[in-house]
Amino acid sequence: MDNNGNMDTNRHHGKTAIVTGAGSGIGQATLLRLAEEGTLVTGCDISAESLDSTRVLLEKQKLTAELVVADVTEQEDVAHLVSSLEGPLDILANVAGIMDHFVPLGELQDALWDRVIDVNLNGVMRLTRAVLPLMEKAGKGAIVTVSSEAALGAGASGVSYAVSKNGVIGLVKHVAYFYGPKGIRSNCVIPGPVATGIGASASPESSWAMERASLKFATMQPTPAQPDEIATLISWLASDEASNVNGALVTADGGWAAA
Ligand SMILES: NC(=O)c1ccc[n+]([C@@H]2O[C@H](COP(=O)([O-])OP(=O)(O)OC[C@H]3O[C@@H](n4cnc5c(N)ncnc54)[C@H](O)[C@@H]3O)[C@@H](O)[C@H]2O)c1
Repeated sequence: MDNNGNMDTNRHHGKTAIVTGAGSGIGQATLLRLAEEGTLVTGCDISAESLDSTRVLLEKQKLTAELVVADVTEQEDVAHLVSSLEGPLDILANVAGIMDHFVPLGELQDALWDRVIDVNLNGVMRLTRAVLPLMEKAGKGAIVTVSSEAALGAGASGVSYAVSKNGVIGLVKHVAYFYGPKGIRSNCVIPGPVATGIGASASPESSWAMERASLKFATMQPTPAQPDEIATLISWLASDEASNVNGALVTADGGWAAA
């Protein structure tokens, strides 16, 4: 933003980016923001229908971006997404994710665990691994991964989501430490509640576990953020202004974690 509150449309001028989960919520807001800030951005999502809604918003705002249907859990899709880039990649925003219906460990079916870990953790690992060679070759790159308040305290989700969102923190720090000297920065955004489409996978399936979880929400009921309030942080962490920020876990939760 400049002093008049206008968006800096040159912040990422000429840079390239991949944003996952670009069909809805935080991923969609991130794609729109990066495009408006001058990035040549490729957005992917598992849902073609959701990407259609992103396309409509891009047209409305007179912005352009590549939109690709891809499942981050499929190695073939990930490889295709990265190989279809023309030239280097400056920014990766790992945003795609699903919730786990607040299912506690004792009621957990393997299928739910496998899917949540696959999307939220394995997907981030696969795509990050795939872009590293491009960033290493260029000697620069910024990766921003979305974790969750569920990584800081157990009451914000069931077990699968909490473990997956803790897992990505390890991945973020690994990349920051080992690849920092190669010019690659890796940071983590930790949102509290955000008004998005994730509710579909958040409907509670265990009444006692939800009752227990709701105690956490009762400690301080945070007003759900708008997706762009998270996108603006992702954009900043990906920008050259954040050149000395590497391996950071940054909350964007209206103060929830501080309670
Ligand atoms: N909404 C919240 O309150 C909240 C809080 C903390 C963290 N988060 C995290 O923010 C991220 C974005 O979620 P959101 O709230 O915008 O939800 P959302 O449901 O609005 O958007 C997520 C998008 O990811 C896509 N997606 C799901 N599985 C995919 C896959 N396998 N491959 C590619 N795309 C896939 C979905 O189709 C959807 O468009 C997630 O990682 C989520 O865990 C959300």
